[in-house]
Amino acid sequence: MALVDVLAGVLSGSPEEAVARRLDFDRLPKHVAIIMDGNGRWAAERHLPRVEGHRAGIESVRQTVETSARLGLSVLTLYAFSVENWKRPVPEVTALMGLLRHYLRAELKTLLRNNIQFRVIGQLERLSREVREELEAAVDRTRTNSGMVFNIALSYGGRAEIVDAARQALAHGVKPEALTEEMFASFLYTSGQPDPDLLIRTSGEMRVSNFLLWQIAYAEIWVTDTFWPDFRARHLLDAVADYQKRDRRYGAVTSDSAEALK
Ligand code: IPE
Ligand code: IPE
Ligand code: MG
Repeated sequence: MALVDVLAGVLSGSPEEAVARRLDFDRLPKHVAIIMDGNGRWAAERHLPRVEGHRAGIESVRQTVETSARLGLSVLTLYAFSVENWKRPVPEVTALMGLLRHYLRAELKTLLRNNIQFRVIGQLERLSREVREELEAAVDRTRTNSGMVFNIALSYGGRAEIVDAARQALAHGVKPEALTEEMFASFLYTSGQPDPDLLIRTSGEMRVSNFLLWQIAYAEIWVTDTFWPDFRARHLLDAVADYQKRDRRYGAVTSDSAEALK
């Protein structure tokens, strides 16, 4: 996947075409993680029920998944439902689960056609049997795909994931003195996947809301005021373009400042 693939998915002469042409395809983030926020506010602005915001957000998911696959990302993780979101009114939770099932039914063919491997991360035992079965079926059907990994974070909490990983490590008999960061990471839901390079949050909120706490240690953060239902390919490409301007230092000094210190 590369520029030609991205261009095939955008209108010629469009702003997204201009951004795509400026990207450096040798320096793409491997893993992009997105906190999809602002559905409720999007609906409120239109005097619609909150669920209409969630419904409208499905198109944003479709575009984001497709553009990410065309870009050639290795991993895309979308935060769809947090452990804290169980505190929401039952009708809203039920509507969200219904929309998820609708998405899976409508999009499985697209995931297969695009060689996308679908995965789910989170406390899945808290989901209803119907939702779990549908998710498992999609995971199974796409298991042998070798393209982009698409993780959906559902009933997900970063702290819960870390506690689960600690339990796993203990259950596997890992000795305290033998435990390393790499080994610990292998017990996380994202085992084997690169950490997110770029974390996007929509709707302007400057917080991580319990998302991938371990994995985002050195992620570059990009926040847009755009509400999730208005998020389009152009926003993703803008975020990647901005990411490419960042100087990732990982706590070291830049090569420029290292020169200056000599
Ligand atoms: C994000 O939109 C979707 C979920 C968290 C499930 P919200 O529903 O949080 O929308 P706002 O933040 O209230 O606008
Ligand atoms: C974060 O959004 C969770 C998801 C996007 C699924 P929330 O709307 O739940 O987060 P807060 O309450 O603003 O922190
Ligand atoms: Mg919110």
